[in-house]
Amino acid sequence: MLKTRFTELFGVEHPIAQGGMQWVGTAELVSAVADAGALGFLTALTQPTPEALAKEIARTREMTDKPFGVNLTILPSINPPPYAEYRRAIIESGIKAVETAGYKPQEHVNDFKANGIKVIHKCTAVRHAVSAQRMGVDAISIDGFECAGHPGEDDIPGLVLIPAAADKITIPMLASGGFGDGRGLAAALALGADGINMGTRFCATREAPIHDSFKAAMVANDERATDIIFRTYRNSARVARNAISQQVLAIEALGKPFEEVAHLVKGARGREGLISGDTDHGVWTAGIVQGLIHDIPTVRELVERIVSEAEDVISRRLAGMIAPAALAVDA
Ligand SMILES: Cc1cc2nc3c(=O)[nH]c(=O)nc-3n(C[C@H](O)[C@H](O)[C@H](O)COP(=O)(O)O)c2cc1C
Repeated sequence: MLKTRFTELFGVEHPIAQGGMQWVGTAELVSAVADAGALGFLTALTQPTPEALAKEIARTREMTDKPFGVNLTILPSINPPPYAEYRRAIIESGIKAVETAGYKPQEHVNDFKANGIKVIHKCTAVRHAVSAQRMGVDAISIDGFECAGHPGEDDIPGLVLIPAAADKITIPMLASGGFGDGRGLAAALALGADGINMGTRFCATREAPIHDSFKAAMVANDERATDIIFRTYRNSARVARNAISQQVLAIEALGKPFEEVAHLVKGARGREGLISGDTDHGVWTAGIVQGLIHDIPTVRELVERIVSEAEDVISRRLAGMIAPAALAVDA
């Protein structure tokens, strides 16, 4: 058992979280993560309406009696979803933990905190972590350049980002991006984090509600199999490299505006692929940690393996490197 400020704060067994994942963070995965003793987050915007989210929360509760949370991702949008109504659905459902991600979470953080909800804000830069801490969140998740999804525009990998954030953050902090095994968990703890947040690795589990062909692709792919799209729009997104991501990059290389790639990257297209099993139908989110994914275990097997491997690294491999104290010569 690894006990950290994260496990204490959120009342979970293991210092592992499953971050919000569009189309993937549903009751099936989140209840399995909760049952395995880690902290899973349902993805609010995967549900078409706030009412549907309330139903998904109820469905998750029927599948587990362990704690779980909800992710609210705030992205700039021409037609923003009704964020305040999603927030209300979360509060009224009695959820006790929320992962916020994206832009300007203040109004959401204030409301969640006023309703006794613990907030973990996920961000990709030390300066954003510092302002979230000032904003009153309970914990930070710091997402390095390795991560699937939106790594920001600074391109700072975890090896520097995590300790740089740990130097400035006093509240509990998760390391995120590129984690998939116990070596990573032990490294995150060594770098100053209180646990890890994973996305891609949880997609390659039996319970993840995506077609098996995506899971097989993640096993087959190595660490080079991602593309950063949308860089020219200053909204970088790391996705699995496929025919569509390559097309998007080719269009961006010509300096074309977002409108010219919109038809390729729209959410509905990505979702259709995840259901049909065609990994070249749309863009799909995955990180470089694919290079460390070699099997498709159950969530419980994965979590237990990561924790016991981390314990082994800490108590045997690392402890064994400390030279024995010099023998007292006069004993
Ligand atoms: C399929 C997928 C969808 C994601 N969707 C979201 C999302 O909607 N909101 C969010 O905050 N993060 C999202 N993420 C990011 C994860 O929550 C997490 O921060 C990231 O995956 C960590 O990097 P890793 O994949 O290397 O573990 C997504 C990740 C994946 C793999």
